[in-house]
Amino acid sequence: MSKTKTVFECQTCGSQFPKWLGRCNECGGWNTLVESVIGSAAPGVSSQNARVASDSEVFSLSDVDILESTPIPTKVNEFDHVLGGGLVPGSVTLISGEPGIGKSTLVMQILGSLANNGVESLYATAEESPAQIRGRASRLGIDSENIKIVATASIEQIIQHAQDTNISFLVVDSIHTLVCADISSSAGTVSQVRECAHRLTEFAKRTTTTVIVIGQVTKEGTLAGPRVLEHVVDTVLSFEGDDQALVRTLRASKHRFGTTDELGLFDMTEGGLLALDDPSLLMAITGSVRPSGLAVAAAIDGSRPFLVEVQALVVPTTAPVPRRVVQGIDTARVSSLIAVLQKRCGLQLASCDVYVSLVGGIKVKDAALDLAICVAIASADKDIVVSKDNVFAGEVGLSGEIRPTTHMTRRVREADRRGHKLMAANLGKSKPSEYKVESIEIKNFELLKDVLLMQDL
Ligand code: TYD
Ligand code: MG
Repeated sequence: MSKTKTVFECQTCGSQFPKWLGRCNECGGWNTLVESVIGSAAPGVSSQNARVASDSEVFSLSDVDILESTPIPTKVNEFDHVLGGGLVPGSVTLISGEPGIGKSTLVMQILGSLANNGVESLYATAEESPAQIRGRASRLGIDSENIKIVATASIEQIIQHAQDTNISFLVVDSIHTLVCADISSSAGTVSQVRECAHRLTEFAKRTTTTVIVIGQVTKEGTLAGPRVLEHVVDTVLSFEGDDQALVRTLRASKHRFGTTDELGLFDMTEGGLLALDDPSLLMAITGSVRPSGLAVAAAIDGSRPFLVEVQALVVPTTAPVPRRVVQGIDTARVSSLIAVLQKRCGLQLASCDVYVSLVGGIKVKDAALDLAICVAIASADKDIVVSKDNVFAGEVGLSGEIRPTTHMTRRVREADRRGHKLMAANLGKSKPSEYKVESIEIKNFELLKDVLLMQDL
């Protein structure tokens, strides 16, 4: 006889309550509790514990086989780059992103690439029909017997098919549309997502099948049932970029087998996602006539140096409080740089709206962008063009000093590779001549004021 239990579960934080409440006592979210009826056969996490308990065994540490955690390359270059080489057999990777960003496309390209190398995979779809999947695959030039498709929302059936077909790679599109028969709440609720994720993880570990799970994000841009999923899987990748963005970025926010620093860049084209392995090509304005308000920065994201153009626009404000509109960079950072420009360099920005963005729609977190941001704003304010040959890298402090930044050698090399001539930065104790690049003239500044003077700003 199966006993059932009714709980009310918060869809934001996953906390459970015996009674319905208007506001979750744990996370404070309003109207987030949803009734879930849980069967005793698989009561959420506790069933997981029960399963583990019934067939567990004690080993000496030295007797345990070492899990082979060597990543297998998928040969989708940017994807492998983010993961530090590829996917580890038996791992579970979650790819999250907004609808239309290209999750299904990315996954199909991965399966196509693996299929070419003889790897058999199963694509479980609960969102699209097999005909739609086939349509996408043929658009991507993928047609292989090695890729099997099953259209079902039942987690039990997916795992059964994966076992029967004996594949080494399973894709689930998407976890928010899957249902587990033991739980009565609808697909996408925290209890369903958690149970399905647990079953997939258990299956992956037991059979060393590599699993990729696609997840949807909510309107607010967070993963539905975030904590629940993130704890269960080995790797969480977010695929981002908006409609206007030239590039789509893939970043790991959790990765059990490597760093989370690496950034993957893709361009969505007619024939699918193309790896953008040279992000420096994103520099928008390549012609000889350049407007004011542009400055090139030598940025680093993860381990990869690239040049990125900062654009700024400064106009007299019509609003009571001047606007600061920022894209791709931290807004608070830009506000403090505007304050530094006002106080330390004498710019009059208090009655101006300031717009700052990174060309290409990418987001970069690198303190060394500061200098280029300041130069772009000063250039826009004074309407004086900054030569494209100048590349900037340096953190700007509140007293208007330029601080040395990390990986300066790599930044200098990248500027050199792209044929730029000048680096304006505080190089710390090292001398410009130590960088040993012939074609580049390196200037060493310690104050923001001096950099602006040098540029006639
Ligand atoms: P899709 O992978 O279905 O996104 P998601 O699974 O994240 O919802 O596709 C995203 C968009 O990309 C879709 O609007 C169509 C477009 N697209 C291309 O531009 N080129 C292509 O080769 C493919 C397959 C899709
Ligand atoms: Mg999809």
